Amino acid sequence: MTKPLHLMWFLAGYQPRGWFDPRYGSGHDFRRPKHYLEGAQALERGCFDGILIADQPSINNTYNSSIDAQLRSGNESICGDPLPLLTMMGAVTEHLGLVGTYSTTFHPPYLLARQLNALDHLTEGRAGWNIVTSGRVTDGLNFGFPTPEHDHRYDMGDEHVDLCKALWESWEPDAVLLDREKGVFADPAKVHQVDFEGRYHRSRGPLSFPRSPQGVPVLAQAGASQRGREFGARNAELIMGNQNSIAGMKDYVSDVKKRAADRYDRATRIMFNIQPVIGETREVAEERLLALKRLAKHRVYVDAGLAFASGGMKTDLGKLDLDIPVMKQIEAMDEQERPKPGSILFQYAMENPNFTPRDLAEREGLKMTLPIVGTAEEVADRMCEIAEETGADGFMFRETLHPGYVADIVDGLVPALQRRGAMRTEYAGKTFREILNEY
Ligand SMILES: Cc1cc2nc3c(=O)[nH]c(=O)nc-3n(C[C@H](O)[C@H](O)[C@H](O)COP(=O)(O)O)c2cc1C
Repeated sequence: MTKPLHLMWFLAGYQPRGWFDPRYGSGHDFRRPKHYLEGAQALERGCFDGILIADQPSINNTYNSSIDAQLRSGNESICGDPLPLLTMMGAVTEHLGLVGTYSTTFHPPYLLARQLNALDHLTEGRAGWNIVTSGRVTDGLNFGFPTPEHDHRYDMGDEHVDLCKALWESWEPDAVLLDREKGVFADPAKVHQVDFEGRYHRSRGPLSFPRSPQGVPVLAQAGASQRGREFGARNAELIMGNQNSIAGMKDYVSDVKKRAADRYDRATRIMFNIQPVIGETREVAEERLLALKRLAKHRVYVDAGLAFASGGMKTDLGKLDLDIPVMKQIEAMDEQERPKPGSILFQYAMENPNFTPRDLAEREGLKMTLPIVGTAEEVADRMCEIAEETGADGFMFRETLHPGYVADIVDGLVPALQRRGAMRTEYAGKTFREILNEY
């Protein structure tokens, strides 16, 4: 290993995913903070860089033109606002980066700048923002205006980020004097209006609270499209990807490097979602994977997966026969409704002509990208190889904070990585940005 890995946890939201998972049992309540907070503390024990809480602001109705399947299955479109939970996590940890998901399309910049400024203060510099543009029709219906088109949303997003940065920097670092002798709280000459007049956003400023420890929270993003990747290369310091193959990861890293050019080494870290399955022996790990695969065939997960994927792809998968290969069905679909080239369904169907919607549902149920299965030692070796081969800076574990799984990672995998020099054994940096830039 040339340098250690960065590790983050990717929590699908403040939401019910896991309610049907037999590992949890009936005492589990996804609405209560306890298991999230214990999870955050465990991640800090494992020297993780941070946790990201995903979010979306609507229960989409693409699948069968209804939200029923999402409600019945309790899938990850049912989300509460991540900010209160991040704040609580901040209160029980000292080092863990805390990344919330907020939309540049629907969250007004001034409001968001204030919220993340407060989170950064309260956590002494550990706030991050997963910048999303929210493309579901139902997102717009909830906020009362139509969801703009894809590239237009990214144009709005660029401006949104510029305005937030201007607001975060509207107080100079030494503006607060707290001079009791002279009776001066802050130096007015060091607090500035921003007078931002954009095409989509405007704000006078300044922000109504002093500059936070990081000033600008760590900016994270996960674009897949050309426009989305341009946006990430321009704005993000933490770029996250979902890729199912080594070749896909390699391409993604080299594409981001090209786009970010001189920003890359200084300011950009790339991490890929993974969900390794770990057992005391390889056989136990394989058995665990089989059990997860069996569970993913259950109607609850099939509904959850198809409804969630339909929203993301803007294709009603409810119109497809579950067991007929996708490729055979595409021809018969309206032009408008066909899965777009580039969508996951299309990609899988291109790789395997016999790929069916049920296969997609099971993959969605598992949420597994590249399968990594084995003992902690084997998984550690595999992660090092993948990072070496692809140029990734690290990985994000895409799972619930189930205590057993968290323990497999923090008490099994992390020590194995540490023994290889592939993971820090203590934090050197103080703020989230410093921690991301430790190596
Ligand atoms: C790791 C990761 C996390 C994501 N988190 C969210 C999220 O919380 N909310 C959301 O609406 N979209 C989320 N997305 C979707 C991306 O923001 C993005 O829209 C998607 O990758 C498609 O790319 P595009 O916008 O360039 O078309 C996530 C994607 C990835 C890979």
